[in-house]
Amino acid sequence: MNDKPPEILISEGEIARRVIELAARISEDYRDKAPLVLVGVLKGSFIFLADLSRRLTIPRTIEFIAVSSYRYGSVSSGAVRLVMDVRGNIEGKHVLIVEDIVDTGHTLHYLIGMLKSHRPASVRTCALLHKAERAEVDVDLDYIGFSIPDKWVVGYGLDYAEQNRTLPYIGIIEPSD
Ligand code: IMP
Ligand code: MG
Repeated sequence: MNDKPPEILISEGEIARRVIELAARISEDYRDKAPLVLVGVLKGSFIFLADLSRRLTIPRTIEFIAVSSYRYGSVSSGAVRLVMDVRGNIEGKHVLIVEDIVDTGHTLHYLIGMLKSHRPASVRTCALLHKAERAEVDVDLDYIGFSIPDKWVVGYGLDYAEQNRTLPYIGIIEPSD
């Protein structure tokens, strides 16, 4: 990887404003359905989840789930494997999956099915970013931060080969594969 900083696609300020808007909508939508269980998908969603969850005004709890996407660099094979399941009991509860980015949609499609098998009251999805052009499977996205072009992005939790996760903005890089 070269040392050039990633080109800014979405600034820190734009992210912060959008997170506040999303949190307000979610708080309104779940006003009568609380407590809400936020299920963050590791690792990419950890910063988004931290910011979003702190802006909600309804009772909420946090769970994490981890998947491995069988990616080779930036290329997805479509196969998804569960690495860590939720720890708490989500049966009968309202669940919101919090993802960093939806690319082909395979990961989220798998997670919705997986979480539904725990018999929650409802399952909805919230993704900070969406690469609409890349969709291979149809998934219902209930809350989307930004639709972005088909570029590899890093920062605000997202990585390329574990690099640049803690960048405060969303930036574009040229993957080397
Ligand atoms: P999908 O299964 O193809 O939708 O891929 C979803 C997962 O791939 C995301 O949760 C990310 O972990 C990763 N991913 C997809 N595109 C990007 C990107 O541009 N930057 C960083 N990670 C990405
Ligand atoms: Mg992810």
